[in-house]
Order: sequence, then C-alpha cells, then structure tokens
Amino acid sequence: MTKAIILSGGWGTRLRPLTCTIPKTLIPVVNKPVIERQILLLKTAGVKEIVLAVSVMSEVVKQHFGDGKRLNVNIHYTNEKFPMGTAGAIRLADDYLKDDNFFMLNGDVIMDFDFSEFLTSHHKYGGIGTIASKIVEDPSRYGVLIVDKETHHLNKFLEKEEYSPPEGKITPMPINAGVYILEPDIFSYIQPKKKVSIERDVFPRVAAEDQLFHYPISGIWKDVGKPSDLLEANIELMNHIINNLNSDVKNLIDDTADIDPTTNIYSPCTIGKNVVIRKNCSIGPNVIIGDDVYVEESTKIRNSLLYKEAYISKNTSISNAIISDNCLIEKNVELSGDDENLIILASFVKVNKEIKLISKDHQPISYCHHEIVKESIK
Ligand code: GDD
Ligand code: MG
Repeated sequence: MTKAIILSGGWGTRLRPLTCTIPKTLIPVVNKPVIERQILLLKTAGVKEIVLAVSVMSEVVKQHFGDGKRLNVNIHYTNEKFPMGTAGAIRLADDYLKDDNFFMLNGDVIMDFDFSEFLTSHHKYGGIGTIASKIVEDPSRYGVLIVDKETHHLNKFLEKEEYSPPEGKITPMPINAGVYILEPDIFSYIQPKKKVSIERDVFPRVAAEDQLFHYPISGIWKDVGKPSDLLEANIELMNHIINNLNSDVKNLIDDTADIDPTTNIYSPCTIGKNVVIRKNCSIGPNVIIGDDVYVEESTKIRNSLLYKEAYISKNTSISNAIISDNCLIEKNVELSGDDENLIILASFVKVNKEIKLISKDHQPISYCHHEIVKESIK
C-alpha cells in the first residue's frame, strides 16, 4: 500500500514574522493548514499511512495532528535532531517506507490534481522516481526540469542557481513542483546520518542514470514561500473551491457566522466559524477570515487574510494585509499595503487607535508577535 512522507521542517525564513509562532506548514490557506490540505488530497489516492518529517517547531506540528485520528489517517513522526536536508529527512523513515513506492511532498505547496492518476503514470513510466512538474513564467526560484516531452524522461534536474536561461532571458520552463512518487531504491542514493539535499545531491544523479520521469500537472499549484505568494495562494485556492462547488454560491461563509444585514460582502470571500461582523462593513473582494474573528461596525477589509481570533475595532480600513491570530486592532486604524509589500502583523500584535500604516516606496511593513504599534508609518 502506497504511503506518504511530507517534509515539514524548514525555517520558513521568507515568511517571517508569521513563522515565528506558526510553523510554515501549519500556516492556514483558506482556513486549513497547508499540510492538512495535502493529507486530504493524499487520502483521495487511498493513502492512509503518513510520515511527517518534522524538525523546526516539531512539537507544534505534533500537537496539531497527533496520531491523525481526526483526519482518519495514521500519522507518524521522524526524530530529526537538526535539519538534515530534504533527503536526509526522509532517510530517517527508510525502514518504514521500504516496502513499496511512496509519495513525497514539500510541505509548503498547495495544489489540486489527481493523485491516483499520478500514481498510475509512475507505474507506467517505471523509474525510481516521478516528479510532478508545473510550467511557470519565471523559473528562477525553483528547481528546473529539462525534460523529454514525448517519453516523459527527465534528462536533467537543475536546482535554483544551477539553471541559467538561454541568453539570460527569462522564459517559461517546467519546474519541480515539490511532489514526487519514489521507489524505496531512492534510499541507496542517500547517505545515512548526513545532511543531504534531494534536489542537489540525489535527483541529478538519478536523472543521469535515466531513472527519473516527470508528470506535468494541470490546474492549481503554488508554493507559499513568501507573504505575497501566501495571499495569492489563498485567493487562487478560494476561487478554485468556489468554482468547483457546482452551485451559484460565490462566497464560502460558515453557517455559524453572524453578519449584520447592513454589511456588504463582495465575492469572493471566506468567513470562518463563529465570526461576527457588525453593521455597515464592507468585506471583500478577496478576503479570508478565520474562526472566531470579531469585526466591529463601519470597517472595510479587502485583499487580506485574517487568522483566527483577531479583533478588529470600528472604522478600520484594511487592504493588502496579513493579520495573524489574536491580533487586536483598535478603532480608526488604516492598514494599507500594496500587492507586493503587504502589511504583516504576526500573532498577538496590538495596533493602537488612529494608527496609519501605509506601505510606500516598495517597503513592506511587518511587526513581530506581541508587539504594540504606537506610531504611524505613511
Ligand atoms: N524535515 C525537514 N528537514 N524538512 C525540510 C528541511 C530539513 O532539513 N529543509 C527543508 N525542508 C522542507 C520545508 O519545510 C519545505 O516544506 C520543503 O522541505 C522545501 O523546502 P523549501 O525551503 O521551501 O525549498 P524551496 O521552496 O526553496 O525549493 C523547493 O521547492 C520548490 C517548489 O516549491 C525545491 O524542492 C525546488 O526544487 C522546488 O522547485
Ligand atoms: Mg518552498
């Protein structure tokens, strides 16, 4: 029976300060942690046994998923004393994964494609590994795949910085989506007890032996590497979920939400459990609100993420922002980021009344957890 391993151990540096209190793989995307979405997708291909390769903030991840009963899967954890790299981390689970092929996922990508068909293709190709690939406009932040489109052979695997575009011009290329199906033979390429990178140390060698294939994925795929990606990933996934509902519903609003009838919701929006939104507010488009958030009257929110238990006081205006759990925004505040430079408040930040935070000249504005914002930036 095919099992799976999910990498859940990076530092999430580019998502700081959000990742100072929430491990990158537990960051909510449309109100569910990234790896929870991956587990649900793995279940559609019949996977019931999942290893989480945890290292950074491992206890938080363990506490969240436990033994997996809530999601009706069995979850196991590796014991990684220090970050062992993307291959070193899976080598720790070799005994558990040695009997059959297995899925391996980077724990920071959201996607929705047919995992059963992916598995069927892997069997058909017959190599040691099949790498899911996605064509992106600018491949520079990813591992680049040089492929044979007819046979699906992967001729070369070039991790970031190892690929230079022809004549220095950025051109769309298939990239490594961070989703693989591997045969246990892969472990013979990974030295035990060493820090080893699957992208730099393993895949180039297996490709040179003609044992890697690629599987082009259609549909939604996104790496949630940096804050603007995280906001985009939320919006893309929300649209994808709404479009697949086969109804004319335009927002994802939980039944328990209490929204005053004078408030306008501009689709698409997601509103979680027990959210209260008082009168004369304007919410959306592109807003995702987590559970137990309270929004006082005459507040405007668009293009933003609000995590659970945030409190937004009256007459506040929020755009292009990510507001983490338990933040408190006092009245008459303005938070205005731009598309690339969001306003980011980590967990438990308090913003004092009348404060204005307006990102200009391409400067992002962010506050670490528990900070109190006492001065405006405009
Ligand atoms: N357990 C463990 N230990 N996990 C790790 C470690 C480690 O030492 N290092 C990284 N990870 C996890 C991260 O948490 C993440 O889920 C995944 O491995 C990939 O690491 P990133 O740091 O996010 O890599 P990246 O985004 O720069 O590049 C990778 O993903 C791209 C697709 O999003 C590469 O695989 C690229 O080739 C790929 O294109
Ligand atoms: Mg990544």
